[in-house]
Amino acid sequence: MSELRADALVLFGATGDLAFKKIFPALQAMAASGRLDVPVIAVSRESWDIDGLRARARDSVEKHGGVVDPEAFAKLAGLFGYVGGDYNDPAIFDRLRKALGDARRPVHYLAIPPSAFPPIVQGLSRSGCADGARVVLEKPFGRDLASAQELNRTLHQAFGEMDVFRIDHYLGKEPVQNLVLFRLGNSFLEPIWNRNYVESVQITMAESFGVEGRGRFYEEAGAIRDVVQNHLLQVTALLAMEPPIGADVEALRDEKVKVVKSIRPLTGRSLVRGQYRGYRDEESVAPDSDVETFAAMELHIDSWRWADVPFYIRTGKCLPTTATEVLVRLRRPPQRIFSGFELPPGPPNYVRFRLGPEIEIAIGAQTKAPGEGAMRNVELLACRDRRDQVEPYDRLLGAAMEGERLLFAREDEVESAWAVVDPILKRASSIYEYEPGSWGPGEANAMVSPIGGWHEPKPGTS
Ligand code: BG6
Repeated sequence: MSELRADALVLFGATGDLAFKKIFPALQAMAASGRLDVPVIAVSRESWDIDGLRARARDSVEKHGGVVDPEAFAKLAGLFGYVGGDYNDPAIFDRLRKALGDARRPVHYLAIPPSAFPPIVQGLSRSGCADGARVVLEKPFGRDLASAQELNRTLHQAFGEMDVFRIDHYLGKEPVQNLVLFRLGNSFLEPIWNRNYVESVQITMAESFGVEGRGRFYEEAGAIRDVVQNHLLQVTALLAMEPPIGADVEALRDEKVKVVKSIRPLTGRSLVRGQYRGYRDEESVAPDSDVETFAAMELHIDSWRWADVPFYIRTGKCLPTTATEVLVRLRRPPQRIFSGFELPPGPPNYVRFRLGPEIEIAIGAQTKAPGEGAMRNVELLACRDRRDQVEPYDRLLGAAMEGERLLFAREDEVESAWAVVDPILKRASSIYEYEPGSWGPGEANAMVSPIGGWHEPKPGTS
């Protein structure tokens, strides 16, 4: 067994929504592939017992994990322990330490809102449960720069930075990892991956559904906190970072941090916020809510490589489709060479990364169309997969249990990302209503060049 490998998993918030939708299915998958064979101790405020926990886990796997694998589920159910009580009562942590028995390298997964972190971190520390342990945290990590810094201070009272694993599930997606691997694994791409050849970069994360019963959470978050500060800035960093100086985990994280630190903090002028018609009627949403369900923005990275190249980010709920795509547009060739062979308007070359629901990498090119005098657009497809082989939570939990930090966000990364969006969170800007099923408010169109415009990802097929 690797000396970094955890010897117990403690799940705070075991009765919550995240555990139900994501964590139990991931645990079954890990049990099925032989990557989970240590005690799994669920902790929650509810007065449950092991049987209640097993029933909840089975229900979760049935609803969100495809099918119950009888052998793997039985193995998982046999690993369960349960500790219930109030997080503010020190006794719950003494009971947890007892339940951990001989375990010396537990992983504590805090699948709970950040407001509950301080008493838990203190309790873990006081009871000895934090000794030799790691902690896994969910996003959102704070709600602005100041609260993220405060959270980091709280965590560091009991855990060193190397033992803090901040989840951003986008980092657990294979196509997101492929952004870096495709870029740096191919010598033809890197020479053109800069301001000399790249005209603009667009990242669109579109969802065809609304807030789906998460109105209370969404009212506190909005699209910028929910997905821009984390998922979409992570994607930006992976697209724009310099090659790391070595294979070391921190070398890659260092390069990501450098990019995020060089993104100019956003201002209201580079942002369009929208809200879908009907959002204010959702459950737990204020009738006069000013929270954005759509955001489009133009980022600039002040670096030698990216100066003057706009990075456009757009995300929204209730858009025409569910798909996340990156489009890196290259500059047009400089000259018309043959009369009668006009290039179609817009940038003719691009690299397109589809991050979901299907996975694709494609390169846009021009060829002569058969017949007389016309050019046509073609796409060279580098890869196409229906979906990720491994669910992000399965991959990330497995990595946290093994002590592999690569797929987690570091303190300075998270804080720098908050610094980018902090100014637009603090200063209220106009919000435009848009029709559900549209590509958001028309005001966002003025942001991008009319030639080419916003790239609209095709509807998903899975
Ligand atoms: C979550 C957000 O982090 O990511 C959700 O809270 C969003 O609002 C989800 O729907 C999207 O994740 P994915 O993997 O489906 O693109």
